[in-house]
Amino acid sequence: MAQNEPALLKVESLSVSYGHIQALKSASLEVYPGEIVVLIGANGAGKTTLLETVLGINAQVTGSVTFDGRSIRGVSADRNVRSGICLVPEGRGVFASMSVLDNLLLGAHHNMRNVSKNLRRIYDWFPILEKRRDQIARTLSGGERQMLAIGRALMSAPRLIMVDEPSIGLAPIVVNDIFAILTRLNREGYTILLSEQNAYKALKCAHRGYVLETGSLTLSGTAGELLNDPGVRQAYLGA
Ligand SMILES: Nc1ncnc2c1ncn2[C@@H]1O[C@H](COP(=O)(O)OP(=O)(O)OP(=O)(O)O)[C@@H](O)[C@H]1O
Ligand SMILES: [Mg+2]
Repeated sequence: MAQNEPALLKVESLSVSYGHIQALKSASLEVYPGEIVVLIGANGAGKTTLLETVLGINAQVTGSVTFDGRSIRGVSADRNVRSGICLVPEGRGVFASMSVLDNLLLGAHHNMRNVSKNLRRIYDWFPILEKRRDQIARTLSGGERQMLAIGRALMSAPRLIMVDEPSIGLAPIVVNDIFAILTRLNREGYTILLSEQNAYKALKCAHRGYVLETGSLTLSGTAGELLNDPGVRQAYLGA
């Protein structure tokens, strides 16, 4: 972690509306190089909205988003991917009728340099994807599909990986695998921002976290502080 370095991602007073629905209200957060930061929030809290807005998907936005020192508010998702931001979408977002390999190659379409080297690294991280490379993505298990979605994002050679609810719909043992992979990627230098309802496991894997409640960031702290916070324990850890 490098909090003495400038933030890789800085979100300031970010508000997002869908018509008359305000999904994000003046949210501010930072992600420093080398961190895993988790955004904890219940259904509808605004997690996906925040991640999609950073990527450049939403239109009705006020506030600022800075990536690596440059303002990216209003910049298209396409350009942000080229600059090194990626989002592994909620529900995985893989192309169901395409093979594992074609899904991975699609992830590289912005960055065709080093494709075979990147593919090799992804197969090293996810040996199951190499075994299943010719299999149609639809027929993968939920955990395999999540790995494919992460692998596809890695093919764009990102500097910030955002992962929207990686554990959703997965059995606990598979959730452990996914968090172990995120931890490993982080140790190998990737900076990660993830959203989760599975607060306990996410906080065990993250360095810091933010709590998002109906569009507002209400609390932040180190993972340890949040794990011990009585409000967090009651609302998100069932304790
Ligand atoms: N395209 C949209 N049009 C209108 N309202 C939307 C749209 N997308 C999200 N919302 C609303 O914005 C709020 C935040 O939604 P968002 O999807 O960001 O929450 P979330 O924290 O990701 O929830 P979940 O855990 O269920 O994925 C919700 O009230 C939702 O109904
Ligand atoms: Mg969501």
